[in-house]
Amino acid sequence: MIVLGLESSCDETAAAVVRDDRTILADVVLSQLAEHRPYGGVVPEIAARAHLDHLDRLVAEALARAGTRLADMDAIAATGGPGLIGGVMVGVMTAKAIAAVTGKPFVAVNHLEGHALTARLTDGLDFPYLLLLVSGGHCQLLTVEGVGRYRRLGATIDDAAGEAFDKVAKMLELGYPGGPAVQKAAVQGDPGRFSLPRPMKGRPGCDFSFSGLKNAVRLLIAAQGSLSAADRADIAAAFQEAVADAVADRTRAAMAMFTAAQGGPGTLVVAGGVAANARLRERLAEVATEGGFGLAIPPQRLCTDNAAMIAWAGLERFRQGGQDGLNFAPRPRWPLDPTAKQLRGAGVKA
Ligand code: KG4
Ligand code: ZN
Repeated sequence: MIVLGLESSCDETAAAVVRDDRTILADVVLSQLAEHRPYGGVVPEIAARAHLDHLDRLVAEALARAGTRLADMDAIAATGGPGLIGGVMVGVMTAKAIAAVTGKPFVAVNHLEGHALTARLTDGLDFPYLLLLVSGGHCQLLTVEGVGRYRRLGATIDDAAGEAFDKVAKMLELGYPGGPAVQKAAVQGDPGRFSLPRPMKGRPGCDFSFSGLKNAVRLLIAAQGSLSAADRADIAAAFQEAVADAVADRTRAAMAMFTAAQGGPGTLVVAGGVAANARLRERLAEVATEGGFGLAIPPQRLCTDNAAMIAWAGLERFRQGGQDGLNFAPRPRWPLDPTAKQLRGAGVKA
């Protein structure tokens, strides 16, 4: 079985071709970083226009690299949400058009399910497993029980982790995107010079919060007056340490919940752009070992937004008989666990 996948829900335009033996035949990603950099964040209208300008060409490129034609596809998958609606519309419209012309089935994929199932593509992981999804728009812990079957254990009640990195980078004038810039500055810094709060640490459950931490950084910067390079590095290091510590604590709590529900430990999967953070990876490795969990972190390229994960999730759904009509409406909000409380960071952020 071979599936073409399209991704256009944020600031990456992407197309990929994936086969059911877990081979990525082609994986093409075009980042819009340069277009959004002058604004210090993703501008939805610019993103939608850029997707429109490039997606057709990327589809052709992915097919060529894979050595396949549209006629070889078993299904056409596209991110159907959640995300910036203008971009999602471009991907869905393109996939529907291809499906209509070729007579192939169309599968609308939940972007978060793409992240959630990536470890099955890369590591061939069996269900169930524990997923920590940490990106610019999302921060949640879920039990992945099967395709389309997710139980949310916790989520952020305010900002996503990546969002906090981006905002702190802005306050420290370190540039965009913030996560890599903060990590780079933190390498030179002393994480022990300033003490910052660990939001939600030790609380029951495993929800996250980052807005108080962000505010503490704001106050700390104001109290310094002007900032030297060393001050910036020390604040970046203290902030990164606080995030890593808070996420490690929440993940530890989720591991205990998973272990109790499943009758034993399993594998912790980390996905999303923030999974690139080296200090966070270190802390999560410690926590996983402590709890008797295996740890699976897909390669960086497949942790951040890409279309291979959409093609794969589409393939998994299609294999189980999943398919959508050409009347599918793009969804700005689409939580993985619809029974869980609608928190901003869990697929409900418009
Ligand atoms: O998954 P992603 O590429 O896009 C979505 O949000 O869907 O994640 C991007 C986020 C940004 O907030 C970025 O600052 C953060 O991931 N990020 C990092 C690092 N690299 C990217 N955060 C911390 N440390 C990093 N090394
Ligand atoms: Zn994403």
